[in-house]
Amino acid sequence: MFRDLVTANRSFRRFVESEMISRQTLLELIDLARLSPSGANKQALRYYVSCDEKQNERVFEALAWAAYFKDWAGPVAGERPSGYIVIVQDQANKMVSGIDYGIAAQTILLGAVEKGLGGCMIGNINKPKLEDALNIPENYEILLVIALGKPKETVVIDEIDSDGDIKYWRDEAQVHHVPKRKLKDIVLN
Ligand SMILES: Cc1cc2nc3c(=O)[nH]c(=O)nc-3n(C[C@H](O)[C@H](O)[C@H](O)COP(=O)(O)O)c2cc1C
Repeated sequence: MFRDLVTANRSFRRFVESEMISRQTLLELIDLARLSPSGANKQALRYYVSCDEKQNERVFEALAWAAYFKDWAGPVAGERPSGYIVIVQDQANKMVSGIDYGIAAQTILLGAVEKGLGGCMIGNINKPKLEDALNIPENYEILLVIALGKPKETVVIDEIDSDGDIKYWRDEAQVHHVPKRKLKDIVLN
Protein backbone atom coordinates (compact mmCIF):
# COMPACT_ATOMS: atom_id res chain seq x y z
CA MET A 1 0.00 0.00 0.00
CA PHE A 2 1.26 3.48 -0.77
CA ARG A 3 0.49 4.56 2.79
CA ASP A 4 2.92 1.91 4.07
CA LEU A 5 5.68 3.27 1.84
CA VAL A 6 5.04 6.84 3.01
CA THR A 7 5.01 5.69 6.63
CA ALA A 8 8.22 3.69 6.25
CA ASN A 9 9.91 6.71 4.67
CA ARG A 10 11.17 8.40 7.81
CA SER A 11 14.25 10.59 8.17
CA PHE A 12 17.01 8.10 9.01
CA ARG A 13 20.29 9.39 10.37
CA ARG A 14 22.16 6.21 11.34
CA PHE A 15 23.12 3.65 8.72
CA VAL A 16 25.05 0.45 8.09
CA GLU A 17 27.85 2.33 6.37
CA SER A 18 29.55 -0.83 5.10
CA GLU A 19 26.54 -1.51 2.83
CA MET A 20 27.67 0.51 -0.14
CA ILE A 21 25.26 2.09 -2.64
CA SER A 22 26.21 1.92 -6.30
CA ARG A 23 26.28 4.89 -8.63
CA GLN A 24 23.69 2.98 -10.70
CA THR A 25 21.26 2.94 -7.75
CA LEU A 26 21.68 6.68 -7.24
CA LEU A 27 21.05 7.24 -10.95
CA GLU A 28 17.88 5.13 -10.80
CA LEU A 29 16.62 7.32 -7.95
CA ILE A 30 17.41 10.53 -9.84
CA ASP A 31 15.59 9.06 -12.81
CA LEU A 32 12.42 8.99 -10.66
CA ALA A 33 12.88 12.68 -9.90
CA ARG A 34 13.33 13.31 -13.63
CA LEU A 35 9.77 12.01 -14.19
CA SER A 36 8.26 14.26 -11.49
CA PRO A 37 6.32 17.53 -11.88
CA SER A 38 8.22 20.74 -12.61
CA GLY A 39 6.90 24.33 -12.60
CA ALA A 40 6.49 25.47 -16.24
CA ASN A 41 8.26 22.19 -17.01
CA LYS A 42 11.57 24.05 -16.78
CA GLN A 43 13.34 20.96 -15.42
CA ALA A 44 16.02 23.20 -13.99
CA LEU A 45 17.25 20.80 -11.32
CA ARG A 46 20.65 19.16 -11.67
CA TYR A 47 22.28 16.54 -9.49
CA TYR A 48 25.63 15.50 -8.09
CA VAL A 49 26.15 12.06 -6.64
CA SER A 50 28.66 10.65 -4.19
CA CYS A 51 29.08 6.98 -3.33
CA ASP A 52 32.78 6.35 -2.77
CA GLU A 53 34.28 6.30 0.67
CA LYS A 54 36.69 9.22 0.29
CA GLN A 55 34.18 11.54 -1.33
CA ASN A 56 31.44 10.55 1.13
CA GLU A 57 33.72 11.56 3.97
CA ARG A 58 34.16 15.02 2.50
CA VAL A 59 30.43 15.45 1.81
CA PHE A 60 29.62 14.35 5.37
CA GLU A 61 31.87 17.11 6.77
CA ALA A 62 29.65 19.73 5.08
CA LEU A 63 26.40 18.60 6.71
CA ALA A 64 24.63 19.29 10.02
CA TRP A 65 22.44 16.67 11.66
CA ALA A 66 19.35 16.70 13.89
CA ALA A 67 19.42 20.27 15.20
CA TYR A 68 17.15 19.32 18.12
CA PHE A 69 19.79 16.92 19.45
CA LYS A 70 22.16 19.35 21.12
CA ASP A 71 24.43 16.58 22.43
CA TRP A 72 24.65 14.55 19.20
CA ALA A 73 27.03 15.67 16.48
CA GLY A 74 25.61 13.31 13.88
CA PRO A 75 26.28 9.69 12.99
CA VAL A 76 29.62 8.22 14.07
CA ALA A 77 32.03 6.55 11.66
CA GLY A 78 30.52 3.23 10.60
CA GLU A 79 26.97 4.62 10.87
CA ARG A 80 27.27 7.34 8.24
CA PRO A 81 25.47 7.46 4.88
CA SER A 82 26.84 5.31 2.04
CA GLY A 83 25.71 7.72 -0.64
CA TYR A 84 24.49 11.22 -1.31
CA ILE A 85 22.44 12.99 -3.94
CA VAL A 86 22.94 16.75 -4.07
CA ILE A 87 20.22 18.80 -5.78
CA VAL A 88 21.44 22.00 -7.43
CA GLN A 89 20.17 24.49 -9.98
CA ASP A 90 21.93 26.54 -12.60
CA GLN A 91 21.83 30.21 -11.50
CA ALA A 92 21.10 31.18 -15.12
CA ASN A 93 18.09 28.85 -15.43
CA LYS A 94 16.29 28.78 -12.12
CA MET A 95 13.20 26.73 -11.35
CA VAL A 96 9.90 28.58 -10.98
CA SER A 97 9.63 27.84 -7.25
CA GLY A 98 11.22 25.82 -4.47
CA ILE A 99 8.43 23.30 -4.81
CA ASP A 100 10.29 21.45 -7.57
CA TYR A 101 13.14 20.28 -5.41
CA GLY A 102 10.87 19.23 -2.56
CA ILE A 103 8.98 17.00 -4.94
CA ALA A 104 12.23 15.64 -6.36
CA ALA A 105 13.62 14.94 -2.88
CA GLN A 106 10.53 13.14 -1.61
CA THR A 107 10.30 11.08 -4.80
CA ILE A 108 13.95 10.05 -4.43
CA LEU A 109 13.41 9.06 -0.79
CA LEU A 110 10.28 7.04 -1.53
CA GLY A 111 12.19 5.25 -4.28
CA ALA A 112 15.02 4.58 -1.85
CA VAL A 113 12.65 3.04 0.71
CA GLU A 114 11.19 0.80 -1.97
CA LYS A 115 14.75 -0.43 -2.61
CA GLY A 116 15.28 -1.25 1.08
CA LEU A 117 17.28 1.91 1.69
CA GLY A 118 16.42 5.08 3.58
CA GLY A 119 17.71 8.58 4.00
CA CYS A 120 17.39 12.10 5.22
CA MET A 121 16.99 15.47 3.55
CA ILE A 122 19.69 17.83 4.73
CA GLY A 123 19.09 21.55 4.29
CA ASN A 124 21.63 22.64 6.89
CA ILE A 125 24.66 22.65 4.59
CA ASN A 126 28.04 24.31 4.72
CA LYS A 127 27.82 25.27 1.05
CA PRO A 128 31.42 26.39 0.45
CA LYS A 129 32.64 23.10 1.98
CA LEU A 130 30.28 21.05 -0.19
CA GLU A 131 31.25 22.99 -3.34
CA ASP A 132 34.81 22.09 -2.53
CA ALA A 133 34.09 18.44 -1.80
CA LEU A 134 32.29 17.85 -5.10
CA ASN A 135 33.94 20.48 -7.29
CA ILE A 136 30.62 22.23 -7.85
CA PRO A 137 31.15 25.31 -10.03
CA GLU A 138 29.94 28.71 -8.81
CA ASN A 139 27.14 28.94 -11.34
CA TYR A 140 25.30 26.13 -9.54
CA GLU A 141 23.31 26.90 -6.42
CA ILE A 142 23.17 24.07 -3.89
CA LEU A 143 19.56 23.45 -2.80
CA LEU A 144 19.41 20.24 -0.78
CA VAL A 145 21.39 17.12 0.07
CA ILE A 146 19.77 13.70 0.35
CA ALA A 147 21.83 11.36 2.52
CA LEU A 148 21.19 7.69 1.80
CA GLY A 149 22.07 4.32 3.24
CA LYS A 150 20.83 1.11 4.77
CA PRO A 151 19.02 2.34 7.91
CA LYS A 152 20.40 1.09 11.21
CA GLU A 153 17.90 2.83 13.45
CA THR A 154 14.23 2.38 14.25
CA VAL A 155 12.10 5.46 13.71
CA VAL A 156 8.50 5.57 14.92
CA ILE A 157 5.71 8.10 14.56
CA ASP A 158 3.88 9.36 17.66
CA GLU A 159 0.60 11.25 17.32
CA ILE A 160 0.51 14.49 19.27
CA ASP A 161 -2.24 16.81 20.41
CA SER A 162 -2.45 20.31 18.99
CA ASP A 163 -0.44 21.67 21.94
CA GLY A 164 2.09 18.79 21.84
CA ASP A 165 5.84 19.21 21.40
CA ILE A 166 6.93 18.76 17.76
CA LYS A 167 10.58 18.06 18.65
CA TYR A 168 11.75 14.57 17.67
CA TRP A 169 13.46 12.60 20.45
CA ARG A 170 15.23 9.34 21.24
CA ASP A 171 14.26 6.93 24.00
CA GLU A 172 16.56 4.77 26.16
CA ALA A 173 16.51 2.03 23.52
CA GLN A 174 17.77 4.57 20.96
CA VAL A 175 14.47 4.45 19.09
CA HIS A 176 13.90 7.76 17.29
CA HIS A 177 10.40 9.21 17.82
CA VAL A 178 8.81 11.66 15.37
CA PRO A 179 5.76 13.52 16.70
CA LYS A 180 3.13 14.13 14.03
CA ARG A 181 0.02 16.24 14.40
CA LYS A 182 -3.39 14.57 14.11
CA LEU A 183 -5.37 14.74 10.89
CA LYS A 184 -8.25 16.53 12.63
CA ASP A 185 -5.86 19.27 13.77
CA ILE A 186 -4.51 20.12 10.33
CA VAL A 187 -7.69 20.14 8.22
CA LEU A 188 -9.21 23.53 8.83
CA ASN A 189 -12.74 23.15 7.46
C1 LIG B 1 13.57 20.86 3.77
C2 LIG B 1 14.09 19.94 4.85
C3 LIG B 1 15.35 20.15 5.39
C4 LIG B 1 15.86 19.28 6.36
N1 LIG B 1 17.12 19.48 6.84
C5 LIG B 1 17.61 18.65 7.77
C6 LIG B 1 18.95 18.82 8.25
O1 LIG B 1 19.67 19.73 7.83
N2 LIG B 1 19.44 17.93 9.14
C7 LIG B 1 18.67 16.88 9.61
O2 LIG B 1 19.17 16.09 10.41
N3 LIG B 1 17.39 16.70 9.20
C8 LIG B 1 16.85 17.55 8.29
N4 LIG B 1 15.57 17.37 7.83
C9 LIG B 1 14.74 16.26 8.34
C10 LIG B 1 13.64 16.70 9.30
O3 LIG B 1 14.20 16.98 10.55
C11 LIG B 1 12.57 15.59 9.38
O4 LIG B 1 11.87 15.54 8.17
C12 LIG B 1 11.58 15.82 10.55
O5 LIG B 1 12.22 15.69 11.77
C13 LIG B 1 10.40 14.85 10.49
O6 LIG B 1 10.86 13.50 10.51
P1 LIG B 1 10.39 12.51 9.36
O7 LIG B 1 11.07 12.96 8.08
O8 LIG B 1 10.81 11.16 9.79
O9 LIG B 1 8.90 12.66 9.24
C14 LIG B 1 15.05 18.21 6.84
C15 LIG B 1 13.78 18.00 6.29
C16 LIG B 1 13.31 18.84 5.30
C17 LIG B 1 11.93 18.58 4.72
